[in-house]
Amino acid sequence: MHSLFTLFILSSLISSITHACFITTQWDVFVMSNIEDDFVAHIKSGDDDLGNHTIPFNGNYNWSFCDRVDGRTLFYAYFWWGSKYQSLALFDDELRGPCFVTERGYHQQCYWLVTPDGFFVSGYNRTFSSNYWTFKAHWG
Ligand SMILES: *[C@@H]1O[C@H](CO)[C@@H](O)[C@H](O)[C@H]1NC(C)=O
Ligand SMILES: *[C@@H]1O[C@H](CO)[C@@H](O)[C@H](O)[C@H]1NC(C)=O
Ligand SMILES: *[C@@H]1O[C@H](CO)[C@@H](O)[C@H](O)[C@H]1NC(C)=O
Repeated sequence: MHSLFTLFILSSLISSITHACFITTQWDVFVMSNIEDDFVAHIKSGDDDLGNHTIPFNGNYNWSFCDRVDGRTLFYAYFWWGSKYQSLALFDDELRGPCFVTERGYHQQCYWLVTPDGFFVSGYNRTFSSNYWTFKAHWG
């Protein structure tokens, strides 16, 4: 019993050193602007309301979370740019696909690029001209 407990403490310690989420993946999500104007993003999940954030040209808003044990993490957002509006999921089971990079293991990054043409997602922060961005939605 004692040694089991010690083993548990030890493995928790090792785990917290290698990544912050114990048994699930830590995700960092970046919402980057490629629009030469401010826009507003309101990001939410079932548990968290990250509030309204104004994102300037070439700026980004980012946050991190631990994936749910059942994998059913969902973050979605409302966007306003002048008279334009859109709402879409920024992280869910489907978005693991374009975001997941095997070599990163338990600490992953998901990049969103917001442009005048719409919303693009990638596991890599690359320049927009490359083919690495997956188109997700136009402005409404
Ligand atoms: C967030 O910003 C939008 C657009 O400017 C506005 O309509 C909305 O009321 C704001 N929401 C909050 C909670 O401030
Ligand atoms: C993430 O956002 C913080 C502010 O919340 C900022 O200081 C930091 O530079 C951002 N990270 C990157 C990689 O831009
Ligand atoms: C993305 O890459 C650009 C160009 O290298 C860099 O200026 C920017 O800070 C990066 N953004 C994030 C969120 O890492």
